Amino acid sequence: MTKPSATAASGRHRLIVVGSGIAGLYASLLAADAGVDVVLLTKGALADSNTYYAQGGISAVLDEPSPGDTVAAHIADTLKAGAGHCNPNAVRVLCTEARRDIAGLERFGVRFDMDDDGDPALGLEAAHSAPRILHAGGDATGAGIANALICAVLAAQATGRIRLLGHARTTALVQSGRRVTGVEYLHDGQLKTVRGDAVLLATGGAGQLFAQTTNPSVATADGLALAWRAGAAVADLEFFQFHPTCMVRTAQAAESEGNQDPLLISEAVRGEGAILVDADGSRFMPAYHVDAELAPRDVVSRTVALHLAALGDPNGHVYLDARVIEDARGAGFLEKRFPTISKRTREAGIDWTRELVPVAPAAHYWMGGVSTDLHGRTTVPGLYAAGEVACTGVQGANRLASNSLLEGLVFGRRAVEAFLGGDVESDPGRPTNSSPESHAWEFEATPDPGPFSRGALRRLMTANAGVLRTGGQLREAGAALAAWAAVVRPEKVTEAEDPREHEDANLLLAAQLLVLAARERRTSLGAHYRDDSMPDEAPAEDIDNRYRMTPKASLVHD
Ligand code: SIN
Repeated sequence: MTKPSATAASGRHRLIVVGSGIAGLYASLLAADAGVDVVLLTKGALADSNTYYAQGGISAVLDEPSPGDTVAAHIADTLKAGAGHCNPNAVRVLCTEARRDIAGLERFGVRFDMDDDGDPALGLEAAHSAPRILHAGGDATGAGIANALICAVLAAQATGRIRLLGHARTTALVQSGRRVTGVEYLHDGQLKTVRGDAVLLATGGAGQLFAQTTNPSVATADGLALAWRAGAAVADLEFFQFHPTCMVRTAQAAESEGNQDPLLISEAVRGEGAILVDADGSRFMPAYHVDAELAPRDVVSRTVALHLAALGDPNGHVYLDARVIEDARGAGFLEKRFPTISKRTREAGIDWTRELVPVAPAAHYWMGGVSTDLHGRTTVPGLYAAGEVACTGVQGANRLASNSLLEGLVFGRRAVEAFLGGDVESDPGRPTNSSPESHAWEFEATPDPGPFSRGALRRLMTANAGVLRTGGQLREAGAALAAWAAVVRPEKVTEAEDPREHEDANLLLAAQLLVLAARERRTSLGAHYRDDSMPDEAPAEDIDNRYRMTPKASLVHD
């Protein structure tokens, strides 16, 4: 790899990192340790990230063989959960290098929970063949990791090794020819530019595309939109994971004064033995899958949706029964193992040691994203991506639980290594479903979908492109999105000073790309489930020509 030319006044190479989840924080620290001049931008505070809310943990096989577990088993579980759609090379890298980056986290002050013998306490989650989930603070793993990394970043800032730009919203990638050479960002109402040798996107996901999500409000597809506008290839966008157990706020909970943010009930709770029941109190998962509540996440979410539809209550909810855990493990276990969920359910007026928790699927994690190779390199020179915004192919069509923090770590570190010109071997990766040349399309817009609003977009996506989809619903969604896009023009960089308008445009663009990809894949696979699934992929010309792709009058290519 060609070494970047130094652009910083100091003469050091400069890496601009956008996003402060696990991938952005960890990569920034590693790069700073290697002597790179790091500029870290985050659109909110450092703690505003999906990482911060992660409960269950981070999967890793630490010593091989750990009791009953091997790296090979972790690889096999990841491939199986991914429904045969993973990039096996990426999975091998993820699982074999996990221990190296767990040690890296510990070096930056992250402490995982230990068992009574002083060994790491390992949890079990769905579709894992052995307990291998490291956790911190019981069910506050993300906060534990983020807080430690943030402390390390602030210390690096204090010594001038990282320049931190908080509340700085990246609005565009600066390009010289095709090469990315910096970012434009809004700060205090002013548009500013920072230049560097390369940009690493670590902006996270896009749960705000849907009406119900486990993601915080910052998850608005920003990195995907920035990269797409710069001409980067994207892939696997039809695969959006819905977590089966997001707490549903009953009227009573909505009136309570407690935290009204979405509340994920971690898969680790089912790993400890909780079961799902319907409004009649009947356990339904065993009738659908041999692994019942511990089936892969896409299976459980889809089963909940199909079961509710069969009961004639498609917009209803089911219940998580965690009482069985206390029966088996003794009073006080839930409070000790899951202190955050215990507190939050209590605030919502539910005592989960004695009551059922109402739950339903909610948008959680995007398997697709900006295509990268095994070193975080996108198809645009000077642009790297890592974490949820990226698509290494490691998550396939359905991510295995607790592999997301791990992906951000391993591939965030690999991107930094590539930037430094380290041990880069070439990997052709997988073909992508989008190329820079095929980025634009023409939709026959719905005459009047109503004025665009984020709420309307989220409702549309939930109704037409959610857990269950049909070609007709996707066609309708595409047409409504096209009508909004004709006004908002999300394919262009907006000059608005209101940061929310940038997010709206990013969400609209991401929704169009997701719907287009879902429309093109006519066969159900993993998290992409079509009620009208075809036995085989239809030939390209069979796709409704209202969705035809046309070469894009390039925004970025010279
Ligand atoms: C959970 O704790 O259930 C979420 C963890 C993940 O998404 O992997």
